[in-house]
Amino acid sequence: MTVYDEIDDARAASLAAIAAAADLDGLTAIESQLFGKKSALGGLKRLMGQVEADERASVGQALNAAQQAVRAAHDDARASFAAAARRVQLETERLDLTEAPSAPALGHLHLVTQATERLEDVFVGMGFTVSEGPQAETDWYNFEALNLPAAHPARSMFDTLYLDLGDRTEIGDGEGGEATNVLLRTHTSPVQIRVMENQEPPIYTVCPGRVFRRDTADASHMPVFHQIEGLVVDRGISFRDLAGTLNDFTAAYFGSSITSRLRPSYFPFTEPSAEFDITCVICEGDGCQTCQRTGWIELGGCGMVHPNVLGNCGIDSEEWTGFAFGFGIDRLALMRHGIDDLRDMYTNDVRFLSQF
Ligand code: DAH
Repeated sequence: MTVYDEIDDARAASLAAIAAAADLDGLTAIESQLFGKKSALGGLKRLMGQVEADERASVGQALNAAQQAVRAAHDDARASFAAAARRVQLETERLDLTEAPSAPALGHLHLVTQATERLEDVFVGMGFTVSEGPQAETDWYNFEALNLPAAHPARSMFDTLYLDLGDRTEIGDGEGGEATNVLLRTHTSPVQIRVMENQEPPIYTVCPGRVFRRDTADASHMPVFHQIEGLVVDRGISFRDLAGTLNDFTAAYFGSSITSRLRPSYFPFTEPSAEFDITCVICEGDGCQTCQRTGWIELGGCGMVHPNVLGNCGIDSEEWTGFAFGFGIDRLALMRHGIDDLRDMYTNDVRFLSQF
């Protein structure tokens, strides 16, 4: 067996030991066996003295080459074990960061949807039906039919978002078919008109839905919000029916410690008209910051349906009378949960939403 055979054997044994190592610790454990003085190749180095002088250079080169090969194999094995360990660590850290619950978390209905469903339940319990209408409306349904003609100053109560339909601006208004503006409805009142056009009285219905105004978002305004409209048309309906219905609703929704009151107001689609307040749900009437120390909170508007509005829908105002009301659902949900900034409802932060 030549010294070159011995070098080859020592190199093969060292490479086999590296290949057998299971992990970084295993590689560290065999380092002295590979590179130490007593290692196979190290031992051969010490035998160099016994090699013939003219052979030394080439034996030395063979030894160095073997040693470099072992060093390279060891470095490669170390690098690949380190990379694998890093992958495992990243994987566990990634799982930690998601704080993944063991079972997928079930969500729940948004606060506004919860409030809407509860309102519907209360009104259905009082004998009302639920009606819906489109969110993009024509000028006729949103304004004209509600006794708000084009130049009417009360239109300025509504910061309207008009839709640019490009070539399709020629949309009939349902009253002779001439062209009309199309807009995002500014209130749920147009649904009153659609119900009265499609249904004979007696009518007892509520119309919940999304409405839009060109408002800048702040703690109490959003350009998109929700309202619920109520409409009753029957024989002999009077203002006291309106007051009684709103009072019954208030007690059913908020509990008997909360009552309602009406204040004279103006809306083009009702005559007479009123503003509808409820006892402040935060202080229960004592006066606090939320109700500006009045003990009352304004919820919405109401009144007796204007004869022109009934007439616009082909209902004889000599035979039928009715009342209507409309109020904001988002505001109601805000008060019910004591939330002081409306924008929190719409930023979709699960840490906020999951509290309700
Ligand atoms: N549509 C009104 C608004 O958005 C609210 C309203 C007032 C609705 C009086 C009614 C009503 O039905 O009778 O400000």
